[in-house]
Amino acid sequence: MPTNENQTPRPLPAELPKEPWPLFQSWLDEAVEKKIQPHPTAMTLASVDLESRPAARVVMCRGVDTKQGWLVFYTNQRSPKARELEANPRASLIFHWDPLRRQVRIDGPVTHAPAADSDAYFASRPLDSQISAWASDQSEPIPSREALLEKVAAAEARFGVQHGAGAGVRIPRPSHWGGYRVWVELMELWVGLPGRNHDRGLWTRTLTPAGDAFTAGAWRVTRLQP
Ligand SMILES: Cc1cc2nc3c(=O)[nH]c(=O)nc-3n(C[C@H](O)[C@H](O)[C@H](O)COP(=O)(O)O)c2cc1C
Repeated sequence: MPTNENQTPRPLPAELPKEPWPLFQSWLDEAVEKKIQPHPTAMTLASVDLESRPAARVVMCRGVDTKQGWLVFYTNQRSPKARELEANPRASLIFHWDPLRRQVRIDGPVTHAPAADSDAYFASRPLDSQISAWASDQSEPIPSREALLEKVAAAEARFGVQHGAGAGVRIPRPSHWGGYRVWVELMELWVGLPGRNHDRGLWTRTLTPAGDAFTAGAWRVTRLQP
């Protein structure tokens, strides 16, 4: 539900909290609960290739672990974004909840989600999304829509799935499809306020690699000018 234009958004607390997670989580929950846009968990993901060329696209945030400190999205791991993240495993994320006058910026290193998480998430997807993950060589050219629908039909035939079949059918996860975790090293919470006197809180911390994960140092927090 769009925010009433006359309703002024609240600035951040006068004393910024020591860590950003509770505020971030409450903003995400509010965006979802109020259905403030069709895809409130959509986020822009920016990556950079080995020639230093940035690229951005929207993906869905499919989970947040505030304890370990990451967000996860799922994708085709042969796609351009995946190739960029494999070559240069750092990402920048943006949530923009315009009706709430809020933006969140996140930066940090990227790792693969564990295979068990990707399996579980894949199994929870609707069957047509699972078939599509098999049928689509994401971001590769295709001569026509018909050619794509033929690839979908071929994937359905491969797994013995009737077109439009519903729940109860199980197909495996393609090995080239899975999750990436973006570990939060920087988070900025931005609130749009009247007169361009926007409010911005910036939290940063040091992440130290520890196997497939990171251990986090203490947050540093500061307020930024708009
Ligand atoms: C609202 C929205 C949500 C999307 N969610 C995803 C997603 O979760 N995973 C994904 O691979 N692509 C998603 N896409 C498509 C991507 O934006 C993009 O077109 C695709 O992943 C190919 O990107 P690449 O060529 O940079 O790898 C979404 C697009 C929109 C508009």
